[in-house]
Amino acid sequence: MKTYRECIEDAEKKGLAIGHFNISNTEMFWGVINAAKVRNLPVIIGVSEGERDFLGVGQALALVESVRKEIDIPVFLNADHTYSFDRVKEVIDMGYDSVVIDGANLCLVENMKMTKKCVDYARSVNPEILTECELGYIGSSSSLFDDLPEGAAVSEELLTRPEEAESFVEAVGVDLFAPAVGSVHGMSRKGLTPKLYTDRIKEIRESAGVPLVLHGGSGSSDDDIREAIKAGISIIHVSTEIRVAYREGLAKGLKDNPDEVAPYRYLKTAVSEVERVVGEKLDIFSGK
Ligand code: 13P
Repeated sequence: MKTYRECIEDAEKKGLAIGHFNISNTEMFWGVINAAKVRNLPVIIGVSEGERDFLGVGQALALVESVRKEIDIPVFLNADHTYSFDRVKEVIDMGYDSVVIDGANLCLVENMKMTKKCVDYARSVNPEILTECELGYIGSSSSLFDDLPEGAAVSEELLTRPEEAESFVEAVGVDLFAPAVGSVHGMSRKGLTPKLYTDRIKEIRESAGVPLVLHGGSGSSDDDIREAIKAGISIIHVSTEIRVAYREGLAKGLKDNPDEVAPYRYLKTAVSEVERVVGEKLDIFSGK
């Protein structure tokens, strides 16, 4: 299996992005894996603190490790949005492939201090673990909203600045950088589409000097996503859209099978809906 770093290098060379999909349970896991497998594409499974507490911190890892033995595509496990050193340490000690150190809501100095401590710890345990940091606030919840998250960086003056990105990455020594470039976590009920600032992405890719990750992948237009990849995004996180797909699939499964009590029957549509949405995203990310 190709390493995580090799997959990212490959994606950058080809002008593509790797899909990162958040899961809360095994149905979502299979939806993601099935979609990646039929397309023969690498994929990153993401679990935030809440998602991995629900699934089991060790059980999420066991799922990924077991599927790697059975299929040929590279599958990686990312501890998404991790807010404290203790929780970062937990997943590093356990053997996750990467971790997002999220200090985006802290002041710059505190964000830097926590991120550096986590990166140093990861390096001392296993230099192959990829560390990612965030700079700029883009909201914090993969949910449906009426109004944009308060304080989110959606206008040009609030976006991450190239010079900030450069000094932050240099000071903390992370492998991957997640800037605020217009996307937000979650998705508008009113169909409001976040605008991605692709010129800014290009400038940040040059100044940061490390691969860039786009968070808040739900709700952006397909064309904006394609342009963002061209501008220098190597990994794209999607959560809300597949949460919605799961819920709708579950509702359909229950409605279509009113007397069924076997979960593996009425949950089939939840898996296939997740697979459908992940497949559509992967097609865009891989240049189809
Ligand atoms: P969305 O919920 O907007 O897709 O964002 C997901 C994300 O960035 C998880 O890290």
